[in-house]
Amino acid sequence: MTGKTISLTTLLLLIFFACTSKQEAENAAKKSPTPSDLAATQPETHGTEVKSVELTNPLNKEWVTAGQAIYDSKCLACHKLSDEKLVGPGWAGVTKRREPVWIMNMITNVEMMLETDPEAQKMLEQCLVRMPNQNITQEDARKLIEFMRKNDGEK
Ligand code: HEC
Repeated sequence: MTGKTISLTTLLLLIFFACTSKQEAENAAKKSPTPSDLAATQPETHGTEVKSVELTNPLNKEWVTAGQAIYDSKCLACHKLSDEKLVGPGWAGVTKRREPVWIMNMITNVEMMLETDPEAQKMLEQCLVRMPNQNITQEDARKLIEFMRKNDGEK
């Protein structure tokens, strides 16, 4: 038991430091961008925090289809549509247990959520993997929510 606790703590610390040093590397690259620094720096969009999301009924069918296409290419590797965990939690019921605004920010501002939101942090402790920022626009995130609502049985 103690062994397990220690290794979990170590892992979390490693993840933490891995992220810290990436941040530092990026800051350094911003100060003095040499070509190799630039090559090493991935373009990253830090989205603006989403404050409100309007849900409409019935579902927007085009968004459901578009959301599914994004899911297939960018989310399916880690999220099942059932309640079974893969790398991240399964999506069944996600629109019932989370506010739309929370989901939007989880998709478009995942760093902010993992740093500040207790629920997101709890999931990180369970999954031990940080959900990556995939540069999803707010518009696409909204379509993903429509697809999640469909998956949760809304019409
Ligand atoms: C590399 C794996 C990975 C990919 C790809 C990924 N996620 Fe995640 N996701 C996670 C993990 C892991 C968590 C749990 C939080 C954490 O540990 O960072 C999570 C959590 C979530 C949550 C919260 C789920 C809940 O039950 O509250 C949502 C919503 C979400 N992801 C949406 C998406 C969307 C949308 C995409 C595709 C655009 C996506 N994720 C792609 C790994 C991934």
